[in-house]
Amino acid sequence: MQADLERVLFDEATILRRLDEIAAQISNDYRDRELTVIAVLNGSLVFMADLMRRIPLPLRLDCLSVASYHGKAQTSGEVIFKQVALPDVVDRHILILDDILDSGNTLAAIREKLETAKPRSIRVCVLLQKKKMRHRMVNAEYVGFEIEDEFVVGYGLDFMERYRNLPCIGVLRKELAAQPN
Ligand code: IMP
Ligand code: MG
Repeated sequence: MQADLERVLFDEATILRRLDEIAAQISNDYRDRELTVIAVLNGSLVFMADLMRRIPLPLRLDCLSVASYHGKAQTSGEVIFKQVALPDVVDRHILILDDILDSGNTLAAIREKLETAKPRSIRVCVLLQKKKMRHRMVNAEYVGFEIEDEFVVGYGLDFMERYRNLPCIGVLRKELAAQPN
């Protein structure tokens, strides 16, 4: 698998060191509030597991599963929620976790949808954020790493459902990433 990478951006030790920092920041910000983590599956699974074990606060966990068709010609920006009911987040302080902020469509849709469930507050935490112009204003309060606008895999991120189990994050070789979405 690692041979399919053009180059490694962040090895496992670097990722975990950064998670220590973000977790410390989150733990400080939520020290007197009960946190509800909402993880966006499947991409944030590995990130979520490593991050939440670094937050020594009482917290709840819910997961959301969405299908986003961003990048595809006609359905660009469409986000479909796979579960019928949203988690019960009334009056809760929620922190949405996702793997990567790319176009921002997915997180904008999730944020909007969760707002209808009347939480007390919403923040967003992403492991990666691509440097690019976005049509939709999406702000992530916690960002692991800023990266260039390249297609990356590993540590939960996939290309056609592969590479999620790579312990590092790297740029997929161009010839393999011909159709990233
Ligand atoms: P969005 O464009 O911000 O809506 O991103 C939607 C989803 O596309 C992310 O949650 C990822 O699952 C996926 N995605 C975007 N960029 C990459 C990438 O570079 N590698 C792997 N998945 C990506
Ligand atoms: Mg994803």
